[in-house]
Amino acid sequence: MLFVRRFAALAALLLLPLSLQAQYLNTTFHFAPQGMAGTDALVMLVPAESEQLQLSGWSQQTVAQISRAMAAAEFDGAVRQRLEIMAPAGLDVDRLILLGVGDPASLQRSVAEEIGAALSAHINGSNAQVIEIHSELIADNARAVDIMASVAHGVDLRNYRFDQLKSEPDDRPSQTYHWVSAATGDLQQRYNALRALAEGVFTARELTTLPGTDGNPAAFAEYAANTLTPLGVDVTILGPEEVLEAGLGSLYGVSKGSQHKAHLLIAHWRGSDDRPIALVGKGNTFDTGGYDLKTTDSILVMQTDKAGGAAVVGAVKALAGQQAAVNVVGVVPLSQNSISGEAMLPGDVLTAGDGTTIEVASTDAEGRLILADGIYYARDRYDPAVIVDIATLTGAKSTALGSEFSAIFSEHDDLIATMTEAGNMTGELVWRLPLGPYPGIIDSRIADIRNTGSPGAQAGAVFLQHFARDTPWLHIDMAGQAIVSSPSGVHPAGGTGHGVRLLTEWVKLYAGQQ
Ligand code: BES
Ligand code: MN
Ligand code: ZN
Repeated sequence: MLFVRRFAALAALLLLPLSLQAQYLNTTFHFAPQGMAGTDALVMLVPAESEQLQLSGWSQQTVAQISRAMAAAEFDGAVRQRLEIMAPAGLDVDRLILLGVGDPASLQRSVAEEIGAALSAHINGSNAQVIEIHSELIADNARAVDIMASVAHGVDLRNYRFDQLKSEPDDRPSQTYHWVSAATGDLQQRYNALRALAEGVFTARELTTLPGTDGNPAAFAEYAANTLTPLGVDVTILGPEEVLEAGLGSLYGVSKGSQHKAHLLIAHWRGSDDRPIALVGKGNTFDTGGYDLKTTDSILVMQTDKAGGAAVVGAVKALAGQQAAVNVVGVVPLSQNSISGEAMLPGDVLTAGDGTTIEVASTDAEGRLILADGIYYARDRYDPAVIVDIATLTGAKSTALGSEFSAIFSEHDDLIATMTEAGNMTGELVWRLPLGPYPGIIDSRIADIRNTGSPGAQAGAVFLQHFARDTPWLHIDMAGQAIVSSPSGVHPAGGTGHGVRLLTEWVKLYAGQQ
């Protein structure tokens, strides 16, 4: 637990605003070659087509009872099956829980995580406090380690709670888990990398879930700086005057009507001397729609319109936490899309950092306005090898793909291929949509381009493409995936941190192929 302790110590040293980000989890994990006395729940990972379980030290009576229970429940280790046997004969535990993992050779990492998430949800609904997990029924030791680490990662992902705004947090899981493995060192190492990834997801969930006022542009930037700087990430924050001085009129325009003016966050993790990989995330800290006001209940979750920016901060945090040998620069344009006498008006023309004039055909298409300058800034100042942007950009995307897939857009088939691979690996799935031909899709009569067009998701993407120019670029539209209202899979209710695992794995895949 060295790694986790070091983290907690670092956080404790800093006096953080809102006392956020100190400690995300109350569970305790131990990795050891043997179990311990005092276990409440004994958990076995069971491969497919198991009829009888035989562990050293189990009596014939124990084995017979378990076999009978398995037959009665038609449990044979098929993937995602669960069988709980209370008060198993001859075993000094309250519960024996069998978890089917199917064929260990082909078990996907994301499925193992979901098995872990389902286990922790089940444990949280029980009185079990000490849990012991075994993988020795999986014959291949290396696979057993990978699967166990992913199951542990799934437990972590599901057990996060956003409770710092409650006077009395009451729902924090606080069990002790013993992960029993002969290859303790390998397992601990594998888990530590996933724990760093989880810390990135938690940061993104936190930033996504923060209410609009608490999570305003300056607060978001400060939060990110506080969490990233101790990990060795170089953080630069441009305030409103600097945003104006840099000529980022498109970014600035969106927050003109708010007392919370535009900021630009830059987080640079230099883990290698390669050309940088730029990640640009939409950090609109609240989306009222502006004068094209949102008039339905959809406005109620618009504090999550910073989820793309949160994903970028989370991915940079995960890569730094893993000490990944990659050069990645995260750029997060931060805004609050509000109404006042100062606000941009429908039909106004803004001038972006690269000189492009933009007709604001809808004040509610603000994401692309701030991303335009984020992408321009990344390209102009960092000369990146590639730019990936991620945003809760369009309702049209949500309608087309729901929350099961993000939409990805790129003219580079190799980027589509690596992003698809990262999606399959992490379970954060992506689906390609076209950038054209859509002739005239963002043409404007009075300016260079306009910020709306049809079809809606493609218009947003084509608009952003204009600012990436010749730099290889891929756009991720994650609208509808920032928050869940009830727990599902690896997500507790609230901000999902979606995109952190996708971006983190993609950066490593991309860098490995360079
Ligand atoms: N933040 C919204 C997109 C969104 C909608 C995210 C629903 C999550 C859930 C974005 O700024 C927006 O308002 N998009 C408009 C664009 C339109 C006015 C061209 C949309 O999709 O309706
Ligand atoms: Mn909007
Ligand atoms: Zn928006």
